[in-house]
Amino acid sequence: MKHIRVGLIGFGTVGSGLARTLFEQQERLRRKVGTDIVLARVADININALPDQFSNVILSRDANDIFADPTIDIVVELIGGIEPARSFILKAIAGGKHVVTANKALLSIHGREIFDAAVAKGVEVGFEASVGGGIPVIKSLKEGLVANRIEAIQGIMNGTANYILTQMTDHGTPFAEVLKDAQAKGFAEADPTYDVEGIDTAHKLAILMTIAYGLHVKLDDITVEGISSIRPIDIDFAREFGYRIKLLAISRNHGDHVEARVHPTMVPVDHMLANINGAFNAIQFTGDTVGDVLLYGLGAGMMPTGSAVAADVVDIGRDIIAGSINRVPALSYLPQYIGEPAITPMS
Ligand code: HSE
Repeated sequence: MKHIRVGLIGFGTVGSGLARTLFEQQERLRRKVGTDIVLARVADININALPDQFSNVILSRDANDIFADPTIDIVVELIGGIEPARSFILKAIAGGKHVVTANKALLSIHGREIFDAAVAKGVEVGFEASVGGGIPVIKSLKEGLVANRIEAIQGIMNGTANYILTQMTDHGTPFAEVLKDAQAKGFAEADPTYDVEGIDTAHKLAILMTIAYGLHVKLDDITVEGISSIRPIDIDFAREFGYRIKLLAISRNHGDHVEARVHPTMVPVDHMLANINGAFNAIQFTGDTVGDVLLYGLGAGMMPTGSAVAADVVDIGRDIIAGSINRVPALSYLPQYIGEPAITPMS
C-alpha cells in the first residue's frame, strides 16, 4: 500500500507540534487512514538539526528540495506571513502537490488566487488550523453546518488577546507584562501587533465569512479595533456594571448585506463568551436550521494547532488512498459555486 508522504516547510512551534503528532499518533493514524503517514522532509532556514526522534526525516534549508521530490504528496506550509509562503504554496500546487496551511493572514488576502490554482490543478488545500487552533471550526462550518444559512458568527478567536484580557481582569497585571508572558508561551504571532490590534481576529473572521457566505471578504471590509488601549480602569468599570471585556469577532447576515466587526466588547458576566478565559477560543455559529452552536477549545499553541494541521493531512491522505480527490473545500470557497444571491459586505 502506498504511504502518504509529507513535506513540512517551517519547524517552528506549530511545525514541531505537527511532527510530534504524526510521530506519537503514528499507529492510530495508520489504522484510521489505512496506510502510514510519513513525515519525509522538513525545510527550515533557522535550524541545523531535527530532534533525535525524527532521525529518518530529511532536513534541508531549501523548500525547493520538497517541491522537487516527486514522492511528496502533501506540502505543509507553517512559516506564516505572506511571502515566501504564497510562492511556496503556489509552487507546490503547480507541481500537483496537495497543500495544508495554518496561514490565516495569507488566506484572507490571497485565498482566491490559491484556491483558483488548486481547483485548476485538481489538488486539495486544507486550512483547518487557520482559525481556532485545535478546535475543528472550519470542518464544522463547511461540513457539519452545510445545510444552514449562517445567520451570525461571533466569538473569541485570538488566544493571545484573550489571555491578556483574562490576566488583566483576574490579577490586574499590566498589558505589556502579560503580552511578554503570552509571547513566551508561544501563542503570539511573530508580530504581536496582529494579536492585540485585532488584525489576526479579523483575518480569521474573513476566512469564516468567506466559507459561510461565499463572499471574498477583505480586511478592509471589516471594522477593526484592538485591545491595546484597554486600561485596568475600563475593566474595573465593566466589572462594576456586570460585564467582562472580550475581544469579539462579530458577523451578522442581514440578507442583502453582512456586518463584520472586531472590537473589545462588554459581555454580560452570565454569557458563555464572558467565561472563556486564558488562551481559549470560543466560536458561536447561528444557523437557520440548527440554531446556536458553540465550539470551545485551545485556540493557539504547539499541540492544539498541530492537531488541526494533522487532521487536514489525514483528510487528504484518505482521499489520496480512496483515489477520489475532494474538490469541495476549494469550490465552496468560491462565490460562483455557491449558487446564492451575492451578499455585499458593508464598507
Ligand atoms: N496568535 C494566534 C492567537 C495564534 O494568539 O490566537 C493562533 O492563531
